[in-house]
Amino acid sequence: MPGKDRIILALDVSDRDYALHLVDELKEQVGMFKVGLELFVSAGPRVVEEIQARGARVFLDLKFHDIPHTMVRASLQATRLGVHMFNVHTSAGLEALRAVREAVVGLCLKDNLPRPRILGVTVLTSLEQEELRGFGIQHSLRTHVRHLASLAHRAGLDGVVASGHEVAMIRNHFGKDFMIVAPGIRVSWSPPDDQRRTMTPRQALREGADYIVLGRAVLAQEDPLKALELISLELLTA
Ligand code: C5P
Repeated sequence: MPGKDRIILALDVSDRDYALHLVDELKEQVGMFKVGLELFVSAGPRVVEEIQARGARVFLDLKFHDIPHTMVRASLQATRLGVHMFNVHTSAGLEALRAVREAVVGLCLKDNLPRPRILGVTVLTSLEQEELRGFGIQHSLRTHVRHLASLAHRAGLDGVVASGHEVAMIRNHFGKDFMIVAPGIRVSWSPPDDQRRTMTPRQALREGADYIVLGRAVLAQEDPLKALELISLELLTA
């Protein structure tokens, strides 16, 4: 896959028109656009359809985390929207993850729909070891990520969302067919903001990530297109 196809751009804006403008401007530079909570809450599912109507793929990043029944119902709606990928929190538990996968596969077979990739969120890239202790988790963050990735794997999900720091470990344990998406990506010109476990685009891909998520490293720049071009150039030599 060429470097630019491995880039997922997070449309972390609230304005529908601006989001669609970014899609028009940047769709040749990225493999997918991520619609997260901010844009979805402000613009609704229609914006997902509008992005897809422009020929771009969507990763619906709503991180479903609820009882199995509710997660299944929300996942079926994400599937009907036609998104390329969506995600759920692995900490919802094995039963919920299995139920989501079964329901999505069943719907796609019944209605002849393309099956979206389902990813499990492991430990958010904004969290550190110390915060896990606050949740009562005594083992290391890496061990915890491995446990959560294992739930996703056992449930038959397509892969996980994890920080670049855990990519190689996940790749070693779960093999090359398990998709890994790495957010928390930072470049020389972007500050870490609220992210803690950050990594550069090139390093994350070298560690074995299939996709990197770029947000503020691109959108907070005066010229997002230029920022993306610089990153793509760097990835050519990854
Ligand atoms: O601006 P920045 O690059 O930090 O944005 C990262 C994006 O990835 C945000 O949209 C955030 O919600 C999302 N994300 C994350 N960590 C995860 C999953 C998703 O930062 N584990």
